[in-house]
Amino acid sequence: MNLAGKTICLGVSGGIAAYKACALTSKLTQRGADVHVIMTKHAAEFVTPLTFQALSRNPVYTDTFDEKHPEKIAHIDLADKADLFLLAPTTANLIGKLAAGIADDMLTTTLLATEAPVYIAPAMNVHMYAHPAVIRNMQQLDDWGYHFIEPEAGYLACGYVGKGRLEEPESIIRILEERTEPKRDLEGKKVLVTAGPTQETIDPVRFFTNHSSGKMGYAVAEAAAKRGADVTLVSGPSQLATPLGVKRIDITSAQEMLDQVLSVYDQQDIVIKAAAVADYRPVQTFDSKVKKQDGNLSIEMERTTDILLTLGQRKQHQFLVGFAAETNDAVAYGIGKLERKHLDAICVNTVGKTGAGFQSDTNEVIYLNREGKEQHLPSDTKKQIAHRILDEIVQDMEADRK
Ligand code: PMT
Repeated sequence: MNLAGKTICLGVSGGIAAYKACALTSKLTQRGADVHVIMTKHAAEFVTPLTFQALSRNPVYTDTFDEKHPEKIAHIDLADKADLFLLAPTTANLIGKLAAGIADDMLTTTLLATEAPVYIAPAMNVHMYAHPAVIRNMQQLDDWGYHFIEPEAGYLACGYVGKGRLEEPESIIRILEERTEPKRDLEGKKVLVTAGPTQETIDPVRFFTNHSSGKMGYAVAEAAAKRGADVTLVSGPSQLATPLGVKRIDITSAQEMLDQVLSVYDQQDIVIKAAAVADYRPVQTFDSKVKKQDGNLSIEMERTTDILLTLGQRKQHQFLVGFAAETNDAVAYGIGKLERKHLDAICVNTVGKTGAGFQSDTNEVIYLNREGKEQHLPSDTKKQIAHRILDEIVQDMEADRK
């Protein structure tokens, strides 16, 4: 989004990084944005409202009852006219209040009243950032559609070195410009995504499965739909809500996933297989519960069909992308799967690493294509990684057309 002419409400909360919000105000104003600053009382301990007033050339709000224009109610007026909200720096306290729905000052009251997108740039001590309460609160806000601009790792004012430093003003602005730009580069494309685990039945009460939550695949489906694609999501059992505008087909076993994927494969332009499909299933399934007995129990397993390999062998015009969950020699194994399964690209996931792979809300992958590209997509939310993967796919498809 070109920020010129946009109304941006900048929320500043009480941390030492409040000084960086001054540079942010100045740079946003220089880009032609109409910046309205709302400060918490604690923020005003670090920087004076007058500084922001001079830089933004607008009145600064610190108090819900300080109505500067009698014909308007300030917090509703700001909430309605904002094109976007940027919270920088955002303290753990502000994150907690937002997640709890508290509106006890001008900033939180305006935030509850707005329907504009809210971008949160946290800044706090490294241990606070890693605290389960803060993680839970950020997760809640992420689920509600708030956007995060991750803090940097580095020297912190509290003396610690680690993650928690407010992203630099220039980078925050670049991220805002990139993320608020509604990309529609998949308009007219049909995209098939698989997600989640499969369950392979032993008896009516037991099955084999894996740790996949579906988060990565659902993020890809959501991102593709936002970029204009007609998205079909074939999903194993998952607690996640269907992303807006996505057609979801629920399956349980690897065989059901194969059947559903093949039934729509011919019409697809892009296929992205993020599901963790069982490689083996019990040879025999039992109609009634298997009773425990003395000694060990052996269950004979047989191979499931490799869906991705089948798609690779039947590929016509589709751009086919696999995922690979690896614990070691990730790139080498990834290249092996790329070639063996006739893929156009593969996203290699080093699982077992904190903050990557199964279950987590974040991920980091290496995108490999058949031309030898090896693109590292560093740690970010799965939603952002999904967009980065789609960026790579779009770029490769454009290169194929030339
Ligand atoms: O769901 P989350 O909790 O968010 O976790 C995400 C994830 C770790 C599951 C995901 O990012 C991921 O890496 N998915 C692939 C996991 C996997 O099964 O990898 P694999 O190396 O065993 O399989 C390679 C590829 O072949 C995958 O695209 C898989 O979908 C496909 N495959 C595997 C077996 C099979 N029978 N049929 C297949 O199509």
